[in-house]
Amino acid sequence: MTKASPLKIAIAGLGTVGGGTVQLLHDQAELLAARAGRPLALVAAAALEKPAELPLDGVAFFADAREMAKSCDYDVLVELIGGAKGIALDVVTAALERGKSVVTANKAMIAHHGVALARLAEAKGGNIGFEASVGGGIPVIKSLREGLAGNRVTKVMGILNGTCNYILTTMRDSGRDFADVLAEAQSLGYAEADPSFDIDGTDTAHKLAILASLAFAMPTNIDGVSCEGIRNVSALDIRYADELGYRIKLLGVASSSDKGVETRVYPAMVPLSFPLAHVSGPFNAIVTEGDFVGRTVLEGRGAGARPTASAVVADLMDLATGRVGPTFGLTVDTLKPLPAAPAGTHRSAFYIRLMVRDEPGVFADVAAALKAEKVSMEQIIQRGRAPSEVVPVVMTVHETDEASMLRAVERIRGLASVTDLQLIRIESL
Ligand code: HSE
Repeated sequence: MTKASPLKIAIAGLGTVGGGTVQLLHDQAELLAARAGRPLALVAAAALEKPAELPLDGVAFFADAREMAKSCDYDVLVELIGGAKGIALDVVTAALERGKSVVTANKAMIAHHGVALARLAEAKGGNIGFEASVGGGIPVIKSLREGLAGNRVTKVMGILNGTCNYILTTMRDSGRDFADVLAEAQSLGYAEADPSFDIDGTDTAHKLAILASLAFAMPTNIDGVSCEGIRNVSALDIRYADELGYRIKLLGVASSSDKGVETRVYPAMVPLSFPLAHVSGPFNAIVTEGDFVGRTVLEGRGAGARPTASAVVADLMDLATGRVGPTFGLTVDTLKPLPAAPAGTHRSAFYIRLMVRDEPGVFADVAAALKAEKVSMEQIIQRGRAPSEVVPVVMTVHETDEASMLRAVERIRGLASVTDLQLIRIESL
């Protein structure tokens, strides 16, 4: 082992990821020191209670993370508390004010305050690592910031929330309903403290805002991300998706073109030939399109103690070896806000599921609504007959602009025979 001075680490938060990080630093200490050329030394940790099961002998323990951040002697503060504001932001700000570096898994904080924190780091001489904030153990931040630095990236899309992917995969495999599977995902520890962050797409939006910033060299813009979650995806839609040759996935999609930048989170029908269709359970995956490299695909565990600790320690290794640079790849003053693409111009094919009263003329009325908005139908499915009952009718339509599709949907919703309508985009690369 080397005699070089250790990188002194203080960890704020000893929950799932904090515990995993302590364990990794302990179990892999020799390997890390050999690779970094100096030891990575955990010198302090803060949590409400000291977990007895973690190897914390000789580590200064603080019940108050703010006190640790302000007073303790460390080189890097690892923030694993979570939340966009509050203690997490306080301890990170305190560390950066002192000219220390920060490593964090906190996607909400980076999405909302990353630019201000990066500016503070630049002013005070620290660095910020946030590999663990997106995709758990998948090295997607490094991939975009460093591995793809020679490209103009035009698109980044991914399955960025393990809880939603677990729910959608399990609903498909078991035929069970959404609420039942959500409860299971919570019991398995995949979900955020507030599961609405997962299922309403907020967590994916935070991660997408970070990826878009790196991909397009723009400041993070969480307010520019449009967001739909998976609450309304039914077991029936999942069955029809199967039949039509798709999987339903919650996607975060960021693209940049002459029209401007689009950053959107929505459930989508993904063709089985698509790299994301077979990403199942709590796994995440990210597809990137660059002008020289073409398409790259990264897949791995998007959450959990060990994968996320792996990403935290990757950032610590960069700090230990001096492989550091501006937070988002460029200094804050050179990140350029980009215009948003005009609303409604996004083009895609769509799946539409109607619940209709089974009576003569319904198809003709629906077809007329589509025709009025110049939306072209691809296929339609209705099985059996159930006069006087409500039955599902499923259609797919060819690629159209979203504004036309939404106008057609309003017309269809207005038909007396239609009692419910579900609209899901069909994704293409
Ligand atoms: N709740 C998140 C997920 C954890 O389900 O992916 C990792 O950010």
